[in-house]
Amino acid sequence: MALALCSLSPAFAADSTQAGKATHPPGAAIASGHALATDAGFEIIRAGGNAFDAAVAVSSTLSVVEPISSGLGGGGFFLLHDAKTGKDVFLDAREYAPASATPDQYLDKDGKLDPERSQNGPWSAGIPGLPAALVELAQKHGRLPLAASLAPAIRIAHEGFPVYARMAGGYQQRREVMRRYPGTREVYERGGKPIAEGDTFRQPELAHTLELLAEKGFDGFYRGETAKKLLAGVRQAGGRWTADELSAYRVKQRTPISFDFRGWKVTTAPPPSSGGIALAEMLQILEPYDLQKLDEAHRVHLVVESMRRAYRDRTFFLGDPDFTDIPQDVLTNRDYAQGLRATIHPDRATPSALLSGKPTPLEDEETTHFSIIDAEGNRVGGTQTVNLLYGSGLIPKGTGVLLNDEMDDFALKPGTPNAFGVMGYEANAPKPGKRMLSSMTPTFMESADKVAVLGTPGGSRIITMVLLGMLGYDAGLGAQEVAALPRYHHQWLPDLIQAESGAFAPGTTQALRAMGHELQGGDEAGLGSSHRWGNLQTVEWDKRTDTLSTGSDPRNPVGAGKVELAPVP
Ligand code: DON
Repeated sequence: MALALCSLSPAFAADSTQAGKATHPPGAAIASGHALATDAGFEIIRAGGNAFDAAVAVSSTLSVVEPISSGLGGGGFFLLHDAKTGKDVFLDAREYAPASATPDQYLDKDGKLDPERSQNGPWSAGIPGLPAALVELAQKHGRLPLAASLAPAIRIAHEGFPVYARMAGGYQQRREVMRRYPGTREVYERGGKPIAEGDTFRQPELAHTLELLAEKGFDGFYRGETAKKLLAGVRQAGGRWTADELSAYRVKQRTPISFDFRGWKVTTAPPPSSGGIALAEMLQILEPYDLQKLDEAHRVHLVVESMRRAYRDRTFFLGDPDFTDIPQDVLTNRDYAQGLRATIHPDRATPSALLSGKPTPLEDEETTHFSIIDAEGNRVGGTQTVNLLYGSGLIPKGTGVLLNDEMDDFALKPGTPNAFGVMGYEANAPKPGKRMLSSMTPTFMESADKVAVLGTPGGSRIITMVLLGMLGYDAGLGAQEVAALPRYHHQWLPDLIQAESGAFAPGTTQALRAMGHELQGGDEAGLGSSHRWGNLQTVEWDKRTDTLSTGSDPRNPVGAGKVELAPVP
């Protein structure tokens, strides 16, 4: 992790402050999951771009250097703050289901959910949304042409970059699936040998796909040469997409969820993310408790009980708002939170109504998040994904585009847990053109003195990691401390607290068990001790000291947070 904090020039601080508070940041701050993507963002800021142009550069570069996590074949959510108008906008670039993806396609001969169909290959892939988001960001929000902001990604795709351990190891894990497809083999194997750490990884076909996008915008991906190759590749692998489904893809602009929490204005992800509603429930349940004053076991107990209740509601009520009536006003209402709080016993776990309590194995953390603030005060929180490790594993030949396996985020079989152990019912059932429920939660926090942007990957644990990060900021931690915080999670079912090894002080796990909680991990000898949880990337602007800082998750050795001061005018 490279964390660069530049100190302020006093002259600039004086220039940009009013009544002891800065009116705009002294420069720009970017945190992302790969140093090359963070650098690409600064390249575009230095060329005169704003945070939205930088977001195009960071997002597209992550698509090139972190194929394990996200890419043009996937989707994402982008939370934007426009400093000039003061408006917050949420760009929903989530994938949607092709018409062929009826629930019966995902069951095996015994009627069980078949992960071979929902997590691997063409049937696992939804229609990609990320390329449309890049176009929208550049054309509606940026200052520079799309081609300028895509240039760093195109260059890196041509020239290559060094394969890092997580990328090579991830390929080994997914090789059995990925090598089935000639388009994938061409990119990831040379003479029958898989990519290895330290190799220079070049992607000329992906560079060409990006060049077409740069030149023709939306049509450069969703129509014409690229679209034809995508359709042919999906067909050859045994799937069924239509040209109309591709060309009909649209980014949806949605109103973010917004609520107050202890003096912070929180702005976060609305459906089809489950994150914002869950955060509103959890934080409003927790608001009256003085968490810092409690011993750790009681603090964790109350946070876990808020998680349990929010994830129960996720299971039944949340899905694509264009297909499902979501009782959003009720779920985000303070009185509703108060009612939930009243059901929490101060020192007894509430047993989840167990349907199936089988603990789910921990998955690796893919997906990726970046956070940006520029010198004008514009902000972007972007979380993007191909879902599981290397998505579906399928690259349609000649495109370099690794398709997602986001279909697994639907409730393909009602009440059956997906790869993250979360399940759902009708609200998240697949339908043609419907977007699958997500946990991705790019979030802004703003108080009289501070502004923070944060987010992380981690499947169903994304929301609780963002929650813990927000509680960290509220407790006065700095950005890097927030990124490094130990993590724990509860998602209603399975009815247990999952925790990183060493997350709790000695004695806390025992105290939690005495309250009736079941635990997995958490103590020093915890289970899953080598497992990484998430990859939180955050930036913070302190208006009192006019300081920018970044937090880049220490669990990810190639991530980078960086601050560059704007030249003094
Ligand atoms: O949208 C979602 O909620 C998931 N597809 C995100 C996947 C993810 O974070 C993978 N990491 N473990």
